[in-house]
Amino acid sequence: MKYPQLAELLNQPQKHNTVVVRGWVRTFRANRFIALNDGSTIENLQCVVDFEKADENLLKKINTGAAIEISGKLVKSMGKGQSLEVLVDSITILGEADPDIYPIQPKKHSFEFLREKAHLRVRTVTISAVMRIRSALSFAIHQFFQEKGFYYIHTPIITGSDAEGAGEMFRVSVLDPKKPPTGPDGRVDFKQDFFGKETNLTVSGQLEAETYAQGLGNVYTFGPTFRAENSNTSRHLAEFWMIEPEMAFYELEDNMALAEEFIKFTLDYILKNCDKDLAFLNHRFADEEKSKPQNQRSAMGLVEKIKFVIENKFKRVSYTEAIDILKNSKPNKKKKFDYLIEEWGTDLQSEHERYLVEKHFKAPVILFDYPAKIKAFYMRMNEDQKTVRAMDILFPGIGEIVGGSQREERLDVLEKRIEELGIDAEELWWYLDLRRYGSVPHSGFGLGFERLVLFATGMSNIRDVIPFPRTPQNATF
Ligand code: 4AD
Ligand code: MG
Repeated sequence: MKYPQLAELLNQPQKHNTVVVRGWVRTFRANRFIALNDGSTIENLQCVVDFEKADENLLKKINTGAAIEISGKLVKSMGKGQSLEVLVDSITILGEADPDIYPIQPKKHSFEFLREKAHLRVRTVTISAVMRIRSALSFAIHQFFQEKGFYYIHTPIITGSDAEGAGEMFRVSVLDPKKPPTGPDGRVDFKQDFFGKETNLTVSGQLEAETYAQGLGNVYTFGPTFRAENSNTSRHLAEFWMIEPEMAFYELEDNMALAEEFIKFTLDYILKNCDKDLAFLNHRFADEEKSKPQNQRSAMGLVEKIKFVIENKFKRVSYTEAIDILKNSKPNKKKKFDYLIEEWGTDLQSEHERYLVEKHFKAPVILFDYPAKIKAFYMRMNEDQKTVRAMDILFPGIGEIVGGSQREERLDVLEKRIEELGIDAEELWWYLDLRRYGSVPHSGFGLGFERLVLFATGMSNIRDVIPFPRTPQNATF
């Protein structure tokens, strides 16, 4: 490559003398100092223009957002804030950015504003740092599983089954919405649709991953999933990425141990490989915390929180123990929770999860053995006939980051559950076949990728850690 990337240039300056670099102008100060950035690193390259020699018309075009090419000599910088700079010989404007209309100016923009400019926001320091960390985390995820001998599999995006049974799916159809064909009962006749049946975008690759675990042993998926839940929160997306490992011969304890090791590995990876981006986000996080009222501030800094998670064993707590803790907790007794915990069997809300993690245990928590009533059909029934071998991992500031379970491998028990829940067993014939032929204990979990990125970057809204967020009433770009 003729033009070195800034990441390489700034890392190994001794290899460079006269350089030609390309990038976008972050700022242009005093008609003299260009802060150039090409996205490869958070660091800018300072380029010093001799404005007495420079053409005035050209100087006018060096605006924030413009793409330029610079050639010059790389030297040690005398100024503060950078170790190197380029003494500019020549400048070529590659693409102008009119300062009167270019939306990303060198000042503080709100994240809400930037979401409306999602096609340009990656040119900001914060979003570019987040996206580099997102990329590093993706790589770390593959590295973790590949080194452990897991096979990466691709499960379908279009599916006929609702894995989670929550009915929050986006339909995939080519039927004319104005005049769909109907059957004798007056209902839409999906036999005439593209696939000859009703199909949706997948909410999880788990069911298909289970089939592959029972042939390849240990597998994982890492793909997009879709949920049409009308949740306008800072932790929900309608389209998000999920990592779903599925392991033959794993019981729930093995599943928990793997999930914990996995999360720690990915966080450790970014501590080791993303130090500059993390240092910046650490500052940003601290600044944001300062603007909050004292009692709402995070007790730890961002990097401190990441290290804390890596260094401490996650607490393992049964649902039943958790309910006792919550029932007797101050916010429950003083009726401070929006949803009061009254009896065993109620589903936990995010406020309860966060109380357990942030106030009670002050550590990530793995909750297991949930009531069967509030969990999906495929989870293995315990001997008490009331609880299932489910596990959720709860994180500070996030709530649930992982959901998983040991799967029901006994055909008769599974069939009974499916019937009780009124699920269409015919649709699941292939899933039930797994329990007919060579069925074994097996387990798996799903990690919500954006929730991991949210935690790792200290951002406060999930919409700012995915390039183009899809949320209710919003699918621009
Ligand atoms: O708990 P969930 O629904 O579990 C499953 O889908 C299982 N089939 C996974 C498995 O066992 N293979 O979702 C798993 C994780 C959640 O813990 C959460 O981190 C994330 O996916 N998640 C979402 N992330 C962003 N936006 C949403 N709307 C999400 N819904 C779930
Ligand atoms: Mg869940």
